[in-house]
Amino acid sequence: MRTVYVNGEFIPEDEAKISIFDRGFLFADGVYEVTSVLEGKLVDFQGHCGRLRRSLGELNMALGATDDELLDIHRQLVAQNNLEEGLIYLQVTRGAADRDFVFPPDDTPATLVLFTQVKGLIDSALANRGQKIFTVEDQRWSRCDIKTVQLLFPSLAKMEARSRGGDDAWLVRDGLVTEGSSNNAYIVLEDGTIVTRDLSNFILHGITRRAVLECARNLQMKVVERPFTVEEAMGAVEAFSTSASGFVCPVIEIDGTRIGTGEPGPTAQKLREVYIAEMRKAAI
Ligand code: PDD
Repeated sequence: MRTVYVNGEFIPEDEAKISIFDRGFLFADGVYEVTSVLEGKLVDFQGHCGRLRRSLGELNMALGATDDELLDIHRQLVAQNNLEEGLIYLQVTRGAADRDFVFPPDDTPATLVLFTQVKGLIDSALANRGQKIFTVEDQRWSRCDIKTVQLLFPSLAKMEARSRGGDDAWLVRDGLVTEGSSNNAYIVLEDGTIVTRDLSNFILHGITRRAVLECARNLQMKVVERPFTVEEAMGAVEAFSTSASGFVCPVIEIDGTRIGTGEPGPTAQKLREVYIAEMRKAAI
C-alpha cells in the first residue's frame, strides 16, 4: 500500500481523508503539478515548482509551504514508497469551507495532497509504437495556462479519441491546434523545422516543452513557435507530443491520416533520447 501525504502527514492511502466541503471537490478550485521520477530522483522540480507558484498566484490562492518544504515532501514520498520510476502528483486547493461562490476567508488553510504513481516512463510501449491522434474541438475555458484540476473536458476529449480507436486527442480552437489533452503538440516540416503552438492563455506552458525546445536548439534544430492547422499537421513529416508523463512521444497518425512514414520519426526519437539523458543528469 502507498504512503501518501495529506496536510502535513504521511499516511497509508486508505487512511487519507479530505472534507466533502473541500473547494477542490465542490468547485474544482485547485491546482496541480505532475513531476516525473527517474532513478528515484525528481525531474525538473524547479520548473514544476515555478509553474505551481504561477498557477497559485493567478488564482490568488495561498500555500504555506516553501519550495524547500515541497522538495522535502516529494523526497520523503519517493523514499517511503521506494519509487524508482514514475510520477508524483501534487494538488493544492483553496481548502474546506461552507459551499459559497465567494472565496472563504484568507486564513482558511489550503489543502495539500501528494501521492506517487509507479509508471514505466523510459520503456514505453506507446513511445515505441507511436500514438494515433484524433482531433477534437477545444471547448476548455480560456485560461489553459493555469494548471487547474478542472480536467473534465480533456478527459472527455481523450475518451472520444479512444472511442474512435485512437490513443489521445489533439484540441483545435478556431481551426488551429492548441495542444493535446494532457501534453503539448508538435509537428516537423519537410525542412526539419519543429513547429509548436506559441505560449499564450490557450495552452499550458509545459515544463517538458521548455526543456525539449532547449534540447532541440542545442542540437541546432530549427524551432518555430506558432499555431498550425490540422491540415498542416497531416502533411508534416513527423509529429509528437511532450509531457512529464510521456516525455517526448511520437505521433504516427492524425484523424486516420498517416504522418510521414507512419513510424516514429527520427526527430522525435532523437529528442526523446537527448531529453531523457539530460534529465537523468539534472534530476535531483
Ligand atoms: N499534463 N498541456 C496540458 C493540457 C497538460 O495537462 C500537460 C501536462 C502538458 C504538458 O506539461 P508538462 O510538460 O509540464 O507535463 C501540456 C500532466 C502530465 C497531467 O495532467 O497528467
